[in-house]
Amino acid sequence: MTSTKAADVAPDILSPEFAQDPYRFYRVLRDEYPVLYHEATNSYLISRFADCAEAFRSPDFSSRNYEWQLEPIHGRTILQMQGTEHSRHRALLNPFFRGKGLERFMPVIMDNATRLIDDVVRRAGQSLVDGISTAGRADLVEDFSTWFPINVMVDMLGLPKSDHSRFHKWYESIMAHLNNLAGDPAVTARAAETRQELRDYMLPIIAQRRHGDGEDLLTRLCQAEVEGHRMSDEEIKAFVSLLLVAGGETTDKATATMIRNLVDNPDQLEAVRADRSLADNVIAETLRHSGPVHMIMRQTESDVELHGTTIPAGSTCIMMLSAANRDERQFRDPDRFDIFRDDLDVAKAFSGAANHVQFILGRHFCVGSLLAQREMQTALNLVLDQLHDLRYQEGFVPRERGLYTRSVPELLVEFTPANR
Ligand code: HEM
Repeated sequence: MTSTKAADVAPDILSPEFAQDPYRFYRVLRDEYPVLYHEATNSYLISRFADCAEAFRSPDFSSRNYEWQLEPIHGRTILQMQGTEHSRHRALLNPFFRGKGLERFMPVIMDNATRLIDDVVRRAGQSLVDGISTAGRADLVEDFSTWFPINVMVDMLGLPKSDHSRFHKWYESIMAHLNNLAGDPAVTARAAETRQELRDYMLPIIAQRRHGDGEDLLTRLCQAEVEGHRMSDEEIKAFVSLLLVAGGETTDKATATMIRNLVDNPDQLEAVRADRSLADNVIAETLRHSGPVHMIMRQTESDVELHGTTIPAGSTCIMMLSAANRDERQFRDPDRFDIFRDDLDVAKAFSGAANHVQFILGRHFCVGSLLAQREMQTALNLVLDQLHDLRYQEGFVPRERGLYTRSVPELLVEFTPANR
């Protein structure tokens, strides 16, 4: 593939060129190959917005693929459930992640973001005092975004703060496994150990919380009931494991990309610094333009006819969320990051009525979209309050990495710490 105009050679999602810049290939896929059989992954790529949105709502596409994709890591989770079993699980979980249930956890979000940003500012202030540098410096991935959502999750579950590092290690091991396209056996072995360690750690705590009177998420999950059903110990353990990825990796990456987008667009950074009511525009546009989840899988439950191609029943489909979110049939000038665009519905961007697909749509719509919104609002406001004159360190060029999920692995910034 040498030119984005060349339609004679289909883009290969596993090629090095694609890894470097998938966005130009997304356009080729949408325009020339809206349904493409990809031999190496034995799956069909679906890249247009309307096709993805419809598939997420259609019974012809299920999430049974997670039985082989994720069950070996987490155990059986809500992601792979269908029908009544899925609705029951959603009903158990939803109350904790919206409305009053979510508001109870706001102090936990604020406390964790503040601690991490305070540390960044304190270290920066110290190196200015010591004359080590002439500006505050940080890697906002290593020092902030990679810890923030995991620490929030551990605290929401009512687990000891001293276990933040332990959970972070488990998080890194699971993520390494999910991204282990090269099949490194050491990574696979470490993920198997992680699964066992997490199980050994969680099951005794779950047994205690069945009878506890705490207000934490874990106690409440242990005791919640819908239509006489409770989650089993294994299901709760699997859910905690899923949360590390579903709620950790996504928000970690989305937060880092959000800050990158603003540093890349100083006028928009200044606009939101001056008017914080634009925070949701920044978050929603980040999710649309460069959201962390580039691809998720689905499985066809019957033969599906799409753009003249028959996708046989039982096929794996790769739903290309980031290609769909840059579909010019849905958004004008889609490659441009623009917090003022009028074709993205910011008010609905965190709900099942959204007009982007970063949280997908339909019955598996992200349980944690409002939690992610709250976390990102908090992170954004603290960064704006505490890190003035935010810019990249000299010579630093942010480079995205990742296929299924994607973001900048480091974000080296300079700034003037607040009160200086
Ligand atoms: C910016 C941050 C986030 C993004 C982009 C995101 C994206 C997604 C996507 C694409 C799905 C659909 C997966 C599929 O059906 O194949 C999903 C589902 C899910 N998300 Fe999120 N997510 C985010 C944050 C969170 C957070 C903070 C939580 C914590 C509770 C969470 C929990 C879940 C759960 C439990 C599901 C499964 C829902 C179901 O199967 O019914 N997510 N998310």
